Amino acid sequence: MEVVICKTKEEASKLAAAMITAQVKKNPKTVLGLATGSTPVLMYSEMAKAVAAGEVSYKEVKSWNLDEYEGLPGTHDQSYRYFMNENLFKKIDIKIENTHVLNGLAPDPVAECQAYEDQIKAAGGIDIQVLGIGSDGHIAFNEPGTSLKSRTSVVYLTPSTIADNARLFFHGDMQAVPKRALSMGVGTICEAKKIIMLAFGANKQDAIKGCVEGGMSEFCTASALQAHNDAWIFCDEAAAAKLQLKDYYAWRSATKLGL
Ligand code: PGA
Repeated sequence: MEVVICKTKEEASKLAAAMITAQVKKNPKTVLGLATGSTPVLMYSEMAKAVAAGEVSYKEVKSWNLDEYEGLPGTHDQSYRYFMNENLFKKIDIKIENTHVLNGLAPDPVAECQAYEDQIKAAGGIDIQVLGIGSDGHIAFNEPGTSLKSRTSVVYLTPSTIADNARLFFHGDMQAVPKRALSMGVGTICEAKKIIMLAFGANKQDAIKGCVEGGMSEFCTASALQAHNDAWIFCDEAAAAKLQLKDYYAWRSATKLGL
């Protein structure tokens, strides 16, 4: 795992976006795994800037998103389909039919999850998976106590995730946040060829500590990335503050990236 530590989230978002741009330039048929949340928004803006500048095209790219709330239609302004349309898909030249988000209204959610796994496999697997991290160490909606081998399934949100998402997206109304979601599994995520995680702010310090330096454990599902051989974590200084070896990680990753 490589930990890139930047002074600001702006700097980290630019570096992460550059990594994605380079991959799509190298392989215009890249399969992307995408994430929602407040964290990747700046990176998505940077990706859109590269498209506007004519540097890269997403015309042949396909994408699969990590998760979706159960019970929200894609037209709901807090659904993850809506978020992706507004924050990325409308700003780049990807074909909307090549973008995939789990259907939160699927009449048979188990079949929906299985079909999603099958689609990803048929596409040849995910080349780059974008991830945020929950303050409880989750990736996608894989909360503490989820098997590190889990597959795409219906999952149950913790009170801390409900509180985080109520604060950030539902005007503080915890009742408005769905309690279940459809989510790619930890095992599914870890099959991506490359992983880019973003983590910003002091609220993510403990999660990043658990992810990078804790034991690999269901208690912090992000720790599963320790067994991945091409996982990059882009942090700001606040999110990295509790890492014991942060100076070493910063030097090693900067050297590898030629910074
Ligand atoms: P955030 O969410 O980007 O809104 O902090 C991250 C996550 O829960 O994965």
